[in-house]
Amino acid sequence: MSIVNAKEIMIEAAKNKYAVGAFNITDLLQFEAVIDAAVETKSPVIVQTSVKPSQFLGTKMMVAIYRTLAESAPVPVCLHLDHCTDIAYCKTCADAGYTNIMIDASKQAYEENIRQTKEVADYCHAIGGISVEGELGTVGGVEDQVKVAEDEAQLANPQQSVEFCERTGVDIFAPAIGTAHGVYKTKNPKIDTERMATIHKMLNGNGIKTPLVVHGGTGLPEDTIKKLLAAGGAKFNVSTELKRTLIDAKFEYISAHREEYDPGKLDKFVRDATRKAVIHWMEMVESVGKA
Ligand code: 13P
Repeated sequence: MSIVNAKEIMIEAAKNKYAVGAFNITDLLQFEAVIDAAVETKSPVIVQTSVKPSQFLGTKMMVAIYRTLAESAPVPVCLHLDHCTDIAYCKTCADAGYTNIMIDASKQAYEENIRQTKEVADYCHAIGGISVEGELGTVGGVEDQVKVAEDEAQLANPQQSVEFCERTGVDIFAPAIGTAHGVYKTKNPKIDTERMATIHKMLNGNGIKTPLVVHGGTGLPEDTIKKLLAAGGAKFNVSTELKRTLIDAKFEYISAHREEYDPGKLDKFVRDATRKAVIHWMEMVESVGKA
């Protein structure tokens, strides 16, 4: 009932100047907490797995969990494969039932990025019901197997962004604009919101065709988030914050209940902490009440 791809919910978001939160999860507990938050706030949502968690649980198990939770949730839910550099694994996840696939060939030379991204886009479009995300320029920091030194990160060129989207056929697009994976080193990271607005205008001037993605959500100041919403950001990726919430909540609970040995209570505490963190993001990207 609520199985959707990313493009459909993002077009709706971009038209109405809000964004869909996209949350990286590593286990069932986080998956449930993200859905809890979406249902509670009536938000459309994207659940993401990077490659390692997807391989750890297995694609069949991941998709079974997705279908079970999404089909009974009264909100649209997308399952996205994040930052996959391996074309074969992108195809495996598309075959298994992921509804959005990110092929990350952004570290390759421009023409090779186009070739790999187009191959995945063509494959997913032939299956149907799956949207594809591509990236141009590079996002600094570390996400799963993808590592980019901050001084090697390159921003996306607006003209090339348009050509990249046309030639690859991607459904949603992540231009590098200075955001980074992990925790920002300064309180006010330099984010090129104007570049984002220019790319959005050039791509989507006469109606939304290719909605834009913002990577590196953790630690972005709220006023930057608002500027990026106005500039066309329709998906905000959040990973590090949820990893930290999971570990910190476990540590806090176990420290306070060292002799309890009741996993159900520990899980409830962690699920609740995660749900609250996700709700805060849904409020910031203004998706509350939009489902
Ligand atoms: P953060 O880890 O900085 O939240 O970035 C998440 C991300 O962009 C995943 O693709």
